[in-house]
Amino acid sequence: MCSVVGYVGKNLSRAFVIEGLTRLEYRGYDSAGFACIHSADNSIMYTKSQGGISNLLRNFETFPIDGYVGMGHTRWSTHGAASVENAHPHFDCNKKISIVHNGIIENFHELKKMLQKQGHQFKSQTDTETVAHLFESLLKEHKNLKSAVLALVNLLEGAYAFTLMLADYPSLLVVVRKRSPVCIGKGEDEMFIASDLLAFAGKTNKVLFLPDECYAFVTRNSVELNDFNGVSLPVYFQVITVPWTADLKGGHEHFMLKEIYEQKKVIQDTVHNNKADENYLWKKLGLTRLQVQDLQVLKIVGCGTSWHAARVAQFFFESIANVRTEVFLASELRYQPFFKETNSVAVAISQSGETADTLEAIRFLRQHGMHTLAVVNVVSSTMVRETQGYLPIYAGPEVSVASTKAFSAQVAALYWLAHKIAFEKELITERALNAAENELLVVAEILESTIEKYKNDIIKKHAERYAQAPYIIFLGRHVSYPFALEAALKLKELSYIFAEGFPAAELKHGPLALVDTNVPVIIFSVLDPVLYPKLVANAQEVKARGAHLVAFAFEGQQELIQLADVVFTIPHVNPLLGPLAMTGLMQFFVYEISRFLGRPIDKPRNLAKSVTVE
Ligand code: AGP
Repeated sequence: MCSVVGYVGKNLSRAFVIEGLTRLEYRGYDSAGFACIHSADNSIMYTKSQGGISNLLRNFETFPIDGYVGMGHTRWSTHGAASVENAHPHFDCNKKISIVHNGIIENFHELKKMLQKQGHQFKSQTDTETVAHLFESLLKEHKNLKSAVLALVNLLEGAYAFTLMLADYPSLLVVVRKRSPVCIGKGEDEMFIASDLLAFAGKTNKVLFLPDECYAFVTRNSVELNDFNGVSLPVYFQVITVPWTADLKGGHEHFMLKEIYEQKKVIQDTVHNNKADENYLWKKLGLTRLQVQDLQVLKIVGCGTSWHAARVAQFFFESIANVRTEVFLASELRYQPFFKETNSVAVAISQSGETADTLEAIRFLRQHGMHTLAVVNVVSSTMVRETQGYLPIYAGPEVSVASTKAFSAQVAALYWLAHKIAFEKELITERALNAAENELLVVAEILESTIEKYKNDIIKKHAERYAQAPYIIFLGRHVSYPFALEAALKLKELSYIFAEGFPAAELKHGPLALVDTNVPVIIFSVLDPVLYPKLVANAQEVKARGAHLVAFAFEGQQELIQLADVVFTIPHVNPLLGPLAMTGLMQFFVYEISRFLGRPIDKPRNLAKSVTVE
């Protein structure tokens, strides 16, 4: 999940490249760099920094390099520490070839050994630098740029998108793609290159998504496109207008808080916009009505928070639509036996639509003949292009690395989809379908009102206590168990406090040994009348061991309320929507703890917003 941004055009490149990298900094911020062609002698000038863009900007104060051909990079480390030496751009021996790269060159070890035997001197531990030296060697051998590029790409294994800047070809950039996304924006006498079109949103709406296993020679007013066999391809710029607003936090201290508060509107938009389009729903998903009526199995894949949303939605599809649902971690799916079944559909859930593990899972599922569809937030993403249909969640740009509004939009969209499938199968009436849509709108109100109800007197007051905890345990049952997993992930990635989510009944089978008076236990209640008493019994087990118990309880659940040391009460909703009703409060609870600890809320250490490497 690095970012590549390039420019060739009538203007000096640095301003665009830095702005583009800033917009894409969500993809990684361990280090940054910029390179450009010196218009006086066509030499390559460059500067790099550890940390994010702000550190790189300081370099320009003393070294204000710029040029009409330029490129930049922000890095999320895969090979080699987050240091200046490993920051991109990387070079060949003579600094006449420069590269910025997103992805992983899987065979770089053997290539590097071969090049070192030829006398190439390496300066970094990265896989990327190997490409620059290899290209140096091939360019000498082939003399011709096109044949050197073809030789290069046929030697590289892995998933990659990189841009080459060449002192001997000072008016162009070479853009190469294999699996990792990269796109080109066409302006007036200028071309923009980026890992994500967000980088040039507002500057042009003419976009070329580089096809897989292709490369392009890009000048200020031309793009020459070829595949990895050297076959020339037509160049077609789609017109795509990406909603882009200045990176405003809406008066909030962090993007995360802004996005927590956007959730009420996001759920409303998810429902209203998908309902407005419902007559084209099956067509948009690439399914016929008959296929929906005959649907028996869903296989859902996702990562992180999206996987948690899938686990919550499993209850929706099975109990509302009567469709057996299997949920897989995208990164695990390909390495276990796979059983294709008739009347089955695969669903990928992803906020960014660029998560490499999920993309690879989709490719695996398609190879097994599955119909694949994506539930995504970014409809211009690779995942939409690589599946046969998609359901947008309309959450709007989610900037904070920790996913909040995307989670609630995913849960809402999947709840609605489950009812649409049930209606198509004639399992529910139109009245029930409309009731479900209204339920979501009611839950959206509750999600926000519970934050307002508790944000001062309890959450801020207790944040300090929980911030000192050695670790925190989250408990749930049935539909609130995957929600406990999501709460644990939020706490870990934002506060760096270890946390784990358990099914409440599982505690007595071992993890109860973790509980003592220093360990806060957070329990998410359920409305199911059979399960609720059992959950209370689980709460009694932890209280008996002296735990500090925090209960997210529903109104009237006196047994649980009286047991807990701290209580948040939630109005009654459809039992399956209990977690969604609690989502805002849970996120705010974690946010306050992390904020108390002074963590970089929107950009936690070691993470990136879109994980575009496996
Ligand atoms: C969640 O807070 C994390 N940012 C992370 O787990 C994320 O959900 C995961 O990487 C999947 O991303 P995606 O939804 O864009 O595919």
